[in-house]
Amino acid sequence: MCGIIGIVGKAPVAERLVESLKRLEYRGYDSAGVAGVVGGGVQRRRAKGKIKALEEVLAAEPLTATTGIGHTRWATHGAPNVANAHPHHAGRVTLVHNGIIENFAELKAELAAAGRTFESDTDTEVIAHLIDAELATGLAPIDAFKATLDRLTGAYALAVLIEGAENLVLGARRGSPLVVGEGQGEMFLGSDALAVGPFTNRVIYLDEGDYVALDHDSARIFDASGAAVTRPVRVVPTSAVMMEKGNYRHFMEKEIHDQPEGCQRTIAAYVDALTSKTAIPGDVDFAKLERIQIVACGTSYIAGVVGKYLIEQLADLPVDVEIASEFRYRQPALRPGALVVAMSQSGETADTLAALRYCKAKGMKSAVVVNATESTMAREVDVVWPIHCGPEIGVASTKAFTAQVSVLTAIAVAAAKARGTIDAAEEQRLVKVLLEAPRLIAEAIHLEGAIKEIAADVAKARDVLYLGRGPMSALALEGALKLKEISYIHAEGYAAGELKHGPIALVDDQTPIVILAPYDSWFEKSASNMSEVMARGGQVIFITDTLGVKHAPEGAKVVVTAPASDPLVSTLVMSAPIQLLAYHVAVLKGADVDQPRNLAKSVTVE
Ligand code: AGP
Repeated sequence: MCGIIGIVGKAPVAERLVESLKRLEYRGYDSAGVAGVVGGGVQRRRAKGKIKALEEVLAAEPLTATTGIGHTRWATHGAPNVANAHPHHAGRVTLVHNGIIENFAELKAELAAAGRTFESDTDTEVIAHLIDAELATGLAPIDAFKATLDRLTGAYALAVLIEGAENLVLGARRGSPLVVGEGQGEMFLGSDALAVGPFTNRVIYLDEGDYVALDHDSARIFDASGAAVTRPVRVVPTSAVMMEKGNYRHFMEKEIHDQPEGCQRTIAAYVDALTSKTAIPGDVDFAKLERIQIVACGTSYIAGVVGKYLIEQLADLPVDVEIASEFRYRQPALRPGALVVAMSQSGETADTLAALRYCKAKGMKSAVVVNATESTMAREVDVVWPIHCGPEIGVASTKAFTAQVSVLTAIAVAAAKARGTIDAAEEQRLVKVLLEAPRLIAEAIHLEGAIKEIAADVAKARDVLYLGRGPMSALALEGALKLKEISYIHAEGYAAGELKHGPIALVDDQTPIVILAPYDSWFEKSASNMSEVMARGGQVIFITDTLGVKHAPEGAKVVVTAPASDPLVSTLVMSAPIQLLAYHVAVLKGADVDQPRNLAKSVTVE
């Protein structure tokens, strides 16, 4: 997902544009660029690769402008090269864009027919030409901008400079987030609060369809109809500490270690620790609910699968969990009596947002389990269930995953009490179990030394298999996803019972098999799966707990012993070992842990 920054400043902006782009690196990118309005012209500097390359270009050709824009590009249309890097330029217009313009081909054909020529393959350049063409008819910049927006189909967050207008940055959002930052005699525009965080904590979140004209002292905001509107200014705690790595090598390492605190803060928002009762925000009546439909992608989807096990087991409430990109196009048979719950760390994932909107259109009540509480999803649902783990910077989700699972765990207990499948005493017992989870997570993280040794072997593997039963079958998916996305080693997560229906053919003495087996009702079955695998030469990494280790079959290549835990929270406790395994394998392989190749932190395009 691309990163955007714009500044209407009182002093040269080049350094601050670059500083902001560095805070947006976590979003994933393959080129970067900046531009500024100076006197009668526009200066533009772009580079392929990391921001360091852009800094070298700027050192050779400094940018002196006091009004400028910047961009980190995650390629959608056109290869990652300088020609396709933003900002793009046409006539008097220079701009940066996040999103996809779906009708850009027909617009480009129309502009070409009118004699315009293009220097890039991007949809973004078409927008610059459209605005320039509208300016040529004599329209004022804001009107030329609005006329252009009305012609675009698709998603955009835009920051625009107009030649000769040194005190103006135009911005607009539809389907991709954009915020305004209020400074002292300066104004800022950014993809999110982190982008403007170095300059201000006073943030205005633009609504869907809004567009804005910034000068030194004001932000004139208009809604999609063109009516002038005001949006609230929020003071955002983007504390620098939350955004720094501290003494960790990577944000991912820090975020794995932040999990006890992140889960503790999250759980505290969903239970009353004094009475040991659940206290779920929002007005969902679990007693009357007929079904929950979870829609999500990636790790957030896996968190939803864990939630399904817990909610159905405890509350006897049907839960369906679906990959959002499939759900949104298959015309699912929905009924209004269900609650749709989107799971999303960013609250901006395009597929999840579309699936959520599909359910809302069918009359379903909607909720989102989300980290970014000002995100598009958070502002469109009936009920927001925040996770309180702080900004997650590493592309591979870790602390957000366990925080999401914490929320669904609290909801499972609350729904069970509301539906009478547990009594008050059992609710209190389970709430106490949940409150103890952060301590057990911290103990599990102390397994890091043992995990690092295992990582040395796994780093040599071509393929890795993760197996588990019950909620551990979901965690097997998560372990495989973590390993794939940061170490680039092929891995598969499977329900252990499925092994004999095909995957066992993969087993040989070269394939590490990670078996997740806390001492729960599935343990004996998982232990027999372990024997099946070892009988065929499989190299088993058996991750169990202090109770299971006494009953584990002989012969595993290595046994990892996590703290024993109640089944309600075993997924939370067993997450750290698989996250740490993926992390240390990736470090050994020299991978770019926080910004893995081809990935973005939030996928706001389809
Ligand atoms: C997880 O490690 C990945 N980065 C990815 O699968 C992510 O979970 C997915 O893109 C969903 O993102 P969201 O939670 O922001 O919606």
